[in-house]
Amino acid sequence: MEGNGEKRLENALSQKALQMCSSNARKIWILGFIFGIGFTYVFVLIFSPLWQNLPLYFYLNSPSEIFKKSSLPDAGIVEHSANGNTITIQEKDESSIVRLYNTWSMLIDKKSNPEVDILAAVPRAPYLEDCEKNTQRNKLLDNRAENGSLPDWTIWKGYVARVLHENVSSEEQISEQRDLGPITPWIEGSYKDNYPLTRMVQRDIWLHQHPPNCKDRNMRFLVADWERLPGLGIGAQLAGMTGLLAIAIKERRVLVTNYYNRADHSGCLGTARSHWSCYFLAETSVDCRNHAMELMKKQDALINGVVKVKENYTSKEIWSGRTPRIWGSPWRNLQPTTQIDGKLLTKHRKMDRRWWRAQAVRYLMRFKTKYMCRLLNEARHAAFGFEAAKLVTEALNAQPHKGTNGIIKSEMEQLVWSDYRPWVPRPLLSVHVRMGDKAGEMKVFGFEKYMELAIQIREHFPDLKNIWLSTEMQEVIDKTSLYPNWNFYYTNVTRQVGNRSMASYEASLGRQLSTNYPLVNFLLASEADFFVGALGSTWCYLIDGMRNTGGKVMAGYLSVNKDRFW
Ligand SMILES: *[C@@H]1O[C@H](CO)[C@@H](O)[C@H](O)[C@H]1NC(C)=O
Ligand SMILES: *[C@@H]1O[C@H](CO)[C@@H](O)[C@H](O)[C@H]1NC(C)=O
Ligand SMILES: *[C@@H]1O[C@H](CO)[C@@H](O)[C@H](O)[C@H]1NC(C)=O
Ligand SMILES: *[C@@H]1O[C@H](CO)[C@@H](O)[C@H](O)[C@H]1NC(C)=O
Ligand SMILES: *[C@@H]1O[C@H](CO)[C@@H](O)[C@H](O)[C@H]1NC(C)=O
Repeated sequence: MEGNGEKRLENALSQKALQMCSSNARKIWILGFIFGIGFTYVFVLIFSPLWQNLPLYFYLNSPSEIFKKSSLPDAGIVEHSANGNTITIQEKDESSIVRLYNTWSMLIDKKSNPEVDILAAVPRAPYLEDCEKNTQRNKLLDNRAENGSLPDWTIWKGYVARVLHENVSSEEQISEQRDLGPITPWIEGSYKDNYPLTRMVQRDIWLHQHPPNCKDRNMRFLVADWERLPGLGIGAQLAGMTGLLAIAIKERRVLVTNYYNRADHSGCLGTARSHWSCYFLAETSVDCRNHAMELMKKQDALINGVVKVKENYTSKEIWSGRTPRIWGSPWRNLQPTTQIDGKLLTKHRKMDRRWWRAQAVRYLMRFKTKYMCRLLNEARHAAFGFEAAKLVTEALNAQPHKGTNGIIKSEMEQLVWSDYRPWVPRPLLSVHVRMGDKAGEMKVFGFEKYMELAIQIREHFPDLKNIWLSTEMQEVIDKTSLYPNWNFYYTNVTRQVGNRSMASYEASLGRQLSTNYPLVNFLLASEADFFVGALGSTWCYLIDGMRNTGGKVMAGYLSVNKDRFW
């Protein structure tokens, strides 16, 4: 009476594992340790035939409220229920889903060195990215070859390019690129789905920041710490850095970002400690960074201006300096797809700055590090894992039992589909609600106003019901219960109550959490299909920038602000 999905799961266990003994003694041993899951025990659990007998314990251990709705039988051992009670299909499915979800939870828990065997034996969690492999690939795409030639950017995505494209001669590739314009692997979507000149600008910034020879006598550098004033949020720090990148481009200096207070925590190891490179691949090459740091030690380099530092510029130059003009004025052709006070805005002040900040933030965030990738995996698991377990169980049940065939990945999966972004429930609407101490700077709006805009989108796109909600306010989370026709997803973090200052709230979370959680939220928000927020807040403004350089110009951005426009 077992579902096909379960059969598949069982069959997924390797032969070796099936040989493990299943005496009662071992069973007790496992149960004794289940509440303090260390990886050794996880291994035993997954590969032991006993695994299937453990739903109750998983259930007790499960963190999520979702499970409370389900009614698993007391005995917990659903399929071996001795008293002959009929067990409904629904209950059986629920227990397979819970089990699959919990298996994934254990795999996620084990942060270092995932054992490939194990990952391969369990049905794939569609929301997980292969951080190991993709970080390797990103490094290749972000570094010049030994001989100084450009990284291999082709019109083919990901692994297709690496494998199938390898026999295309380099002349053919060069002519391909000439015809199509610059190819920057971190930009998604067609030309029309992005701000004007996005691909060209991204390529040029990359080339500017990755010169072939950093030790050339004519090289100039701008070495800048991230803003550290108390009260400046992550968004403001980023905005400041976009100003410094603009200065660097205008003065033909390579920008080297230095001390980043938010990365000064134990999650950032080695050279990534206290640096942007903890979260994203560095803004420049290792050679340039090292050389700039050497020069910093020499007083004359600072005096004769070979190296400049942030202190050599006024805050006006940094925060409201001129946008680089080397690409002309592409913002003149820019049609903002932004709704303010119910109207589509066609022209506004400081279009150049909006365009530039979008380019600069996109460049700084072009490739995630393995650390960031794993944070995102954990967040997607916590938010979408159960949904995904349902879908995967349904999919496994939908087909006749096929032994272990599904475990060996087809080439299509390895080379082509592997380039898909990790699964999230789509269409997904990003709603970022900013309140709290923002009241000092702009009129704040209640959650209801944001939801009015969400409803406006749903009227046009009736399949929209999923919301990625990012907010630091607990009262916003509480109000989601007033909207039962929407699925809300959000990170599980302690939120602000009342109007405490952002700085004191962040301090209460600790540096690591107060950086990781907003960055995760930011990246998930910018992956959404639709956007609602308050463009008066820097954070929303930057999400909007990611949208406009992430192939989503036509998704639009609906802002609750009525009066304020930067
Ligand atoms: C949220 O996190 C807290 C503490 O980190 C934990 O106690 C709680 O169980 C979590 N809730 C959910 C639904 O995961
Ligand atoms: C540089 O090395 C790459 C491979 O590492 C090679 O494809 C390319 O032809 C080389 N270029 C030159 C100019 O030698
Ligand atoms: C590329 O060419 C070589 C030699 O001609 C061949 O052995 C190899 O299989 C080809 N690779 C692909 C992906 O077609
Ligand atoms: C830049 O600032 C440093 C110290 O902050 C100073 O020593 C140096 O002379 C300044 N350079 C220029 C070109 O003004
Ligand atoms: C919020 O803070 C402002 C000033 O910072 C204060 O006037 C107001 O009373 C506070 N409101 C609440 C609900 O605490």
